[in-house]
Amino acid sequence: MCGIVGYIGKNASIPFLLNGLKRLEYRGYDSVGLAVHDGSKIQINKTAGRIAALQDLTNRHPLSGCLGIGHTRWATHGEPNSINAHPHTGNKNMLAIVHNGIIENFDLLKKELSAKGHTFKSDTDSEILAHLFEENMNNGFDLVEAVRQGLNLVKGTYGLAVICDHHPDMFIAARLGSPMVIGHGNGENYIASDAAPFIGYTKDVTYLDDGEIAVVKNDSVTVKTIDDQVVNKSIHIIDTDLKQIEKEGYSHYMLKEIMEQPQTLRNTTRGRLLLEEGTAKLGGLENDIESLLYSRRIIITACGTSWHAALLGEYMLEELVGIPVEVEYASEFRYRNPILGDDTTVIAISQSGETADTLAAIREARRKRSKVFGICNVVGSSIARETDAGVYLHAGPEIGVASTKAFTSQVTVLTLITLLLGRIRSISTAQGRDLAQNLQAIPQHVETVLKNRKQIEQIAKEFQNVKNFLYLGRGYNFPVALEGALKLKEISYIHAEGYPAAEMKHGPIALIDENMPVVVIAIKDNTYDKIISNIEEVKARKGRVIAIANEGDTEIANKADKVIYVPHSREMFSPLLTIIPLQLLAYYIAINRNCDVDQPRNLAKSVTVE
Ligand code: M6R
Repeated sequence: MCGIVGYIGKNASIPFLLNGLKRLEYRGYDSVGLAVHDGSKIQINKTAGRIAALQDLTNRHPLSGCLGIGHTRWATHGEPNSINAHPHTGNKNMLAIVHNGIIENFDLLKKELSAKGHTFKSDTDSEILAHLFEENMNNGFDLVEAVRQGLNLVKGTYGLAVICDHHPDMFIAARLGSPMVIGHGNGENYIASDAAPFIGYTKDVTYLDDGEIAVVKNDSVTVKTIDDQVVNKSIHIIDTDLKQIEKEGYSHYMLKEIMEQPQTLRNTTRGRLLLEEGTAKLGGLENDIESLLYSRRIIITACGTSWHAALLGEYMLEELVGIPVEVEYASEFRYRNPILGDDTTVIAISQSGETADTLAAIREARRKRSKVFGICNVVGSSIARETDAGVYLHAGPEIGVASTKAFTSQVTVLTLITLLLGRIRSISTAQGRDLAQNLQAIPQHVETVLKNRKQIEQIAKEFQNVKNFLYLGRGYNFPVALEGALKLKEISYIHAEGYPAAEMKHGPIALIDENMPVVVIAIKDNTYDKIISNIEEVKARKGRVIAIANEGDTEIANKADKVIYVPHSREMFSPLLTIIPLQLLAYYIAINRNCDVDQPRNLAKSVTVE
């Protein structure tokens, strides 16, 4: 977590730094700071709170200079206050550093540096870096060498930027396990934790790889490894435009991203769905399709919402492709001793492409000789670059911390993979065409559900003050129940649990009374009768039921307290429709409770630490 920005060039650095931090605020938002080199010395503004607080501080204490670095923090070590906020300095204020990641051996390094006369001001692990580099400079190393030697002593992860008062002409950036991107301008250069701050400034970017250090000047960027080997890096072009990262009139990014789904789903399938042949074409998998097709089993690994999408992948792939699939939390997978090898293919799903646990799981799988495919949204992200092949979502930047449009695009990509593999292994042309046509119709159905948002807003008002919620679904809609519950708890702070509906009898039913609303996904599939029985069981215990049902299902209106209708679709596509009202319900409940839906407490968009 945490976001880093940096600027060097001919212009004042502050506008880019503040604007860039704003765009990275989703990565962490408990404290924030800037260090600017004014040509002779480094000046720092930092504060607890959000970018607005830093903006205020900077209005009161202006900083000027054409070289600067900034940081927005999500606390790991030390509470969020202005002392623990970055940038950090050493003893002499000669260096300022901003850091994303965790320095695992900071205790040991701190003891060693304290013995050499260093005094620490904060409770953070990051401050150690400023003292370490300063100590190396005291011992005669130049700045670049001081940083390189220092990083060789560090255990842990870092995305890092350093400025030094002796060097108004450069900053240093480094990466190990925490992303760092360089933006190339004309007589000016930038760094950031992801490319969002560069939009509107430059489209040319270089992604630092693990173990690399960049020396960034206004007219040059040189990169070497921490083992001192020069690296020739390529420049990539990013195609995101300003509009994609603005709210465009919506009150929150989350609402904008929910409303965008008809379009993002079209973008995800564009050019990939072959209606006539009843299959899919996925350029990213073309050269590696055999390893997926002939796998003895597939493991899908992910975290959070992406893990819920993975569960849907399991259902689809087993049903239509006939390969055994297991779904693993990346955080568990990485620390057990999973049975892998070249007959097992791993699919890693991640919106950000930076989730630390998912990245570690990928590395473990590759170490054990499994092929690894990635399903990512962020182009050029670490996961996209560390997997053997993969498929992008093309959902555009997702900024709201609660994942919405990425989820539906992840499920759509899994559907495309299922169609592609299924058509080679077992699905007939007719079945393939039917699925392809039905998938093609989904964005239009999503539009229909979104048109009904006033009803959902109304329901949200009635339920905004409850303390607990239960979400039930069966089959393909069990992962939707999990996802609906996650959305509600992360943005409204209401306790919510998702269960397979039949499991209710094995425990959760004890919780049901008039204060426990139950959201039941009750679409007309082959378990419909069973789910109606579950509704009866809830009603018999005075629970209030909000049902998500298919249009035309009048029977359910007699049983549930509220019914939200979605159009009919093939069962495997129904999650793409049933999740939409649940996203909206969570959104409206959260705003009614005055919660900050785009930046919920304690959360960050990319979880780049364990
Ligand atoms: O970027 P990723 O998809 O790897 O992120 C995984 C989770 O951190 C993420 O889905 C998280 O659960 C979201 N906040 C859910 O809305």
